[in-house]
Amino acid sequence: MGFFFHSLGLVTTITALVVAMPCEEAEDFHSPRVRVEQGLVEGFVQSNTSVFLGIPFAETTADEHRWKAPKPIRKFPNGRLEATAYGPSCAQVMSGTSITSQSEDCLNLNVWTPRQDKHQCAKLPVFVFIYGGAMVTGGSSNAQWQGFNFARNDVIYVNFNYRESIYASPNAPELQGKAQNFGILDVELAMKWIYDNIEAFGGDRSRIVLGGHSSGGVHVDDYLWTHPETFLAGAIELSANALSGPAYAPAGVALSEVVQQMLDANVTLDCTAEDYTLDCLRAADTYAFQTKSFNSSLNTWFAPAMDEITRFSNYADRFIKGHYPKSLPLIVGNSDQEGEIFGYVYNSENTNFSSWIRTFDADLAFVPTDDLLAAYDEANYASVSSMSGASYGDARFLCATDSLLDLRAAEQPTWIYRWFGNYSNALAIPNLGPSHGSEVPFFHGGNECFSLLDGVTEDEQQLADFMHRWFVAWVKNPRAGPGWEPARPVNGPLACLGVPGHEDEIITSATGVYNSRCQRVYKPNYLKYPVVQNPLLLPQNT
Ligand SMILES: *[C@@H]1O[C@H](CO)[C@@H](O)[C@H](O)[C@H]1NC(C)=O
Ligand SMILES: *[C@@H]1O[C@H](CO)[C@@H](O)[C@H](O)[C@H]1NC(C)=O
Ligand SMILES: *[C@@H]1O[C@H](CO)[C@@H](O)[C@H](O)[C@H]1NC(C)=O
Ligand SMILES: *[C@@H]1O[C@H](CO)[C@@H](O)[C@H](O)[C@H]1NC(C)=O
Ligand SMILES: *[C@@H]1O[C@H](CO)[C@@H](O)[C@H](O)[C@H]1NC(C)=O
Repeated sequence: MGFFFHSLGLVTTITALVVAMPCEEAEDFHSPRVRVEQGLVEGFVQSNTSVFLGIPFAETTADEHRWKAPKPIRKFPNGRLEATAYGPSCAQVMSGTSITSQSEDCLNLNVWTPRQDKHQCAKLPVFVFIYGGAMVTGGSSNAQWQGFNFARNDVIYVNFNYRESIYASPNAPELQGKAQNFGILDVELAMKWIYDNIEAFGGDRSRIVLGGHSSGGVHVDDYLWTHPETFLAGAIELSANALSGPAYAPAGVALSEVVQQMLDANVTLDCTAEDYTLDCLRAADTYAFQTKSFNSSLNTWFAPAMDEITRFSNYADRFIKGHYPKSLPLIVGNSDQEGEIFGYVYNSENTNFSSWIRTFDADLAFVPTDDLLAAYDEANYASVSSMSGASYGDARFLCATDSLLDLRAAEQPTWIYRWFGNYSNALAIPNLGPSHGSEVPFFHGGNECFSLLDGVTEDEQQLADFMHRWFVAWVKNPRAGPGWEPARPVNGPLACLGVPGHEDEIITSATGVYNSRCQRVYKPNYLKYPVVQNPLLLPQNT
């Protein structure tokens, strides 16, 4: 099926047929309604779009359902769902109000469509976006990734929540040998729901493009590696892919530590840190797991493990054997200064480079120490912290993209960009330059997606308009490419986006201009990735 849908000729033919059909009578567009398998979804109109928020796609994952595969949602109570407010975010360490409050009943999604009175009669292309947050935090209700601009440009937009951190990947000994990354299974079920129901919203299930940023980009890649035959029409991985980690601890190590901390905090459990079972831990409250150190940075210990079912340790081999959708149009790319923000995130740890590179958070154990020490020169950075951040940006993002590009671009229609937009208000910390995450609201077209940013300028909105224009055109026809030449392994065309002074241009450069350290230091070592690290035995595991 995937093969037929991906044949451009057939897609064009189908579209042309649909366009020629007479239009249906428009519904009352002030209260848009859509009938899905579970019942009637009642949305609302905002800013010339129809919006449907907080649609559950799975049953709750709380209590006895914790650490189990998500279950498809049954019928809505009374066959109706009022979809006018975001649903809860998944359980995580939480501060601030950029996303809705947490719950383990969090598997819900949001849909934006063109306002139904201006609904075209053709079925519309669909863009599905997976937010990032290091596999431990984040939510679909964040203002930076909403679908208003897409819907106004005749693309249906969907985003959704997935389980994170200990609630997603406990890496418990009893799960060894099974599919044990529940966040990845959540993505799988969300995509199935979207495929099964998007036509009710006016979408075309043969024209679904999947994208994500950071750990959302990892999820996109995990989805590709688990779907050699896919219904997708295209994919985009902003910043990250399956080689982006993050690191994880050996089975049981991190979970046992958290159980001990729960007991130390006087949480009532019928088990100890030595003899716990997941069933015993299912009796504990959501917040009981959010111990003092879990709230600091411990929660990064719970990243998806290589279970060889949902995540794999041998991507090159799988690619060669065809366990991957090689004909799928794919965009990958990075921000120019990916790592800069991580110099701040891990500030206390990375003031000493030679000790930083051996920490769990750096996740650099797969590269020999001497190679790393030789590859970074303090003279090139404002501070040791900034240099440590650069190593994080290389290992997790820039070189992960570069390394898999060499594999994929040889056979797959692949394009690569590099983001140079430099706006101090685009990230929570000023003066980070074009760092990790600053491109996301621009891909989304700004406007409503800029609403949490202070002092947005006209120039910024103009760049967002430009970015969104080419991106939407690509979503509508991925096989035609995004407007620049396809990538090639090792050294080939690369598009520079958001270059100051050239905001309304795509400037062509080459991957070879940027990737010498990736090629020299990282690429030969990704074969050994991931190195499972015991955080309890490493320096500075705070
Ligand atoms: C909504 O559409 C109207 C008519 O086309 C237009 O004048 C208005 O600016 C649009 N509003 C937004 C928020 O796009
Ligand atoms: C950890 O953070 C959560 C919010 O996510 C809060 O409710 C809880 O009290 C915190 N726990 C500790 C021990 O600080
Ligand atoms: C746990 O209970 C013990 C014994 O009642 C008490 O001494 C200790 O302070 C409690 N710890 C916490 C974190 O509440
Ligand atoms: C940095 O860490 C290394 C390894 O832990 C240690 O040997 C060295 O003395 C530290 N350097 C400074 C300047 O603190
Ligand atoms: C970003 O812009 C600031 C000025 O606003 C400048 O000081 C800084 O060097 C720029 N950073 C990069 C990486 O271009």
